[in-house]
Amino acid sequence: MKTICLIPGDGVGQEVVPAAAEALQTLGLGLNFVQAEGGFACFEEHGSALPEATLVQARQSDAVLFGATSSPSTIVAGYHSPILALRKQLNLYANLRPVFSLPGDYSRPGIDMLIVRENSEGLYSGREHQEGDTAIAERVVTRIGSERIVRVACEQAMQRAALRGPQIAGTGKPAVLTIVHKANVLKLTDGLFRECALKVAAEFPAITVNELLIDSAAMNLVRSPQSFDVLVTTNLFGDILSDEASALVGGLGVAPSANVGSGTPVFEPVHGSAPDIAGQGIANPVGALLSSVLMLETLGEPQAADRLRLAVLDTLASGLRTADLSGKASTMQFTRAVCARLG
Ligand code: NAI
Ligand code: MG
Repeated sequence: MKTICLIPGDGVGQEVVPAAAEALQTLGLGLNFVQAEGGFACFEEHGSALPEATLVQARQSDAVLFGATSSPSTIVAGYHSPILALRKQLNLYANLRPVFSLPGDYSRPGIDMLIVRENSEGLYSGREHQEGDTAIAERVVTRIGSERIVRVACEQAMQRAALRGPQIAGTGKPAVLTIVHKANVLKLTDGLFRECALKVAAEFPAITVNELLIDSAAMNLVRSPQSFDVLVTTNLFGDILSDEASALVGGLGVAPSANVGSGTPVFEPVHGSAPDIAGQGIANPVGALLSSVLMLETLGEPQAADRLRLAVLDTLASGLRTADLSGKASTMQFTRAVCARLG
């Protein structure tokens, strides 16, 4: 029996994770759910945003479904972001953020891309210091970190192309990898990332390899999002590009993600704790539901993943939507409609 560790966290995480768990339970796979604490409220109560017991539980589980946390913008003594800590402790160096068109005119059509974001270094290295009125963050790029993230991106590109169908029959689109960097300015850090990326991508002759500077990529993402397949980039660029890309298909409320590497994989909606709407029962559960789809795929349950994805898409197509998509449904109304399609 597979064990899923649920860490709802703060704010709307407390609403969308139980919603996703209900849908997962309805699939009837006999999954075993365990609850664990983490987040800012947990820190205020227990003095740790990621208690040891949570980490142990995550390690012992087959997958983690994480909600969101509220991270303060100023230094709070003893507080460390639990999701960053989880990614680090479990060595989850790859962040996969699929962005695809959804039914409804809030979404642009014809989009099906995957943003592969380096998850362990870059500008989020955690190395910041201040010297008087000067604050400095260190942007860390390593050969090993760059090569392994690009390898994940290439493998994903191959898998996606295979799922699209045989190219010989002319039905499938070939795999295209876009390497996003700013090596013209960041000559050492992104120079190294670019060098590693081109080297690893060359091991995959079936993949068409492109490169774009980050500013140009940001523009092209808005102008012609349909032209992208898989993008691979460093931590901060990937964070920003994936939020931008989510806006093309409905916004943060619908964006799923997976953190993968060597430890227990962690699945989470891209959004944060959304304090402006938390507690009202109106958060969009689609990001958490589609993250659960990614979880099922990773757990080797492709049919259940397809059932859940179709149920979410059908529910959206029916016109039932939460307020962020200009609808009137509550989190649970939407979720129950999804569950009804799974029964
Ligand atoms: P946010 O993602 O929480 O909210 C941005 C906007 O999107 C808000 O208007 C919010 O109402 C809306 N939104 C987000 N999720 C939604 C959902 N499921 N349904 C409908 N609307 C939704 O980002 P923000 O406001 O920048 O940050 C709030 C807090 O979340 C901060 O403390 C931040 O540090 C934290 N955060 C945590 C993340 C995580 O846990 N991985 C990621 C991003 C932010
Ligand atoms: Mg983000």
